Amino acid sequence: MATLRDVARRAGVSIATVSYVLNGTRPVSPEVEARVWEAVVALGYRPNRLARGLRRKRTHVLGLIVPDSANPFFAEIARGLEDLSFAHDYSLILCNSDGDPAKEQRYLGVLIEQQVDGIALVSASATPAHLALLQERGIPFVVVDRDLPGLEADCVLADNFQGGYLATRHLLDRGHRRIACITGPSDLTPSADRVRGYRKAMEEAGIEPLEVWVRRGDFRAESGYHAACFLLSLPPSVRPTAIFACNDLMAIGTMRAIGEAGLSIPRDIALVGFDDILLASYVIPPLTTVAQPTYEMGRLAGELLLRRIQARDRPPARHLLSVRLVVRHST
Ligand code: RIB
Repeated sequence: MATLRDVARRAGVSIATVSYVLNGTRPVSPEVEARVWEAVVALGYRPNRLARGLRRKRTHVLGLIVPDSANPFFAEIARGLEDLSFAHDYSLILCNSDGDPAKEQRYLGVLIEQQVDGIALVSASATPAHLALLQERGIPFVVVDRDLPGLEADCVLADNFQGGYLATRHLLDRGHRRIACITGPSDLTPSADRVRGYRKAMEEAGIEPLEVWVRRGDFRAESGYHAACFLLSLPPSVRPTAIFACNDLMAIGTMRAIGEAGLSIPRDIALVGFDDILLASYVIPPLTTVAQPTYEMGRLAGELLLRRIQARDRPPARHLLSVRLVVRHST
């Protein structure tokens, strides 16, 4: 079992500095903090039970870490959480991890150092070992949007499998057979579940998707653009007549590629997105998409977090919220 001394030695700092970082009792430089967290996670350090007994004063501040603060989906999550928090006299610190687990870990350290009363996390990676430490130290947190298999924690998720199925079923009902899918990061549950829904609908229609039809993106518009350019370059006999993009930003990137190819939506290529960000109804043609209950996800995450702060030992609550297809002109 790793000790405080082992962590200090690996991080190249004093035992006192490790304690400052773990208990947030004194500010240290971000570099030192990242080294301490890396050592804690690498060694699997678990503070002794007594340390957990350290009750810290309430700061009435919450933290939210999202993977891309420029994506309107996460802005809406933040809005739902902030409205709920503010209504209960809590402030909110927003952190952007850029989808980088190391940066996410660093921000977790910053939020602990700031002695926030709880943390809402949209995880940058499917296996954040450092979250286990929050549990060990009894810091209330809630997982939002991206499920973390194996972690017993409060979470608020949308039914991504249902959404992928609805999107694809809709295109099949519109008569399409050559349907492509532009995925998000495949190691994250929202994308993996949407693709499962896509494959299920195609299987029910007796269609085996060609592997060239399933293209990987990263949830950003540019990846949608490049994936669509590839799909449109396929020979006419296999080129898709419809594309399901696993989020709206990639669908918007796809729109640009379709326009540059001199093709029209939906006459030449039908298009469905996912999220229903505000922009989806303002692009031309307005985008058919799968609407997530995004604001409600943020609000509910806030509710679970405040309940957890009040009663730390209650059993974890898992919420799977329904999504719905919003049909617009792009199909
Ligand atoms: O648009 C960003 C995507 O990442 C959303 O679909 C959301 O589910 C998040 O996982």
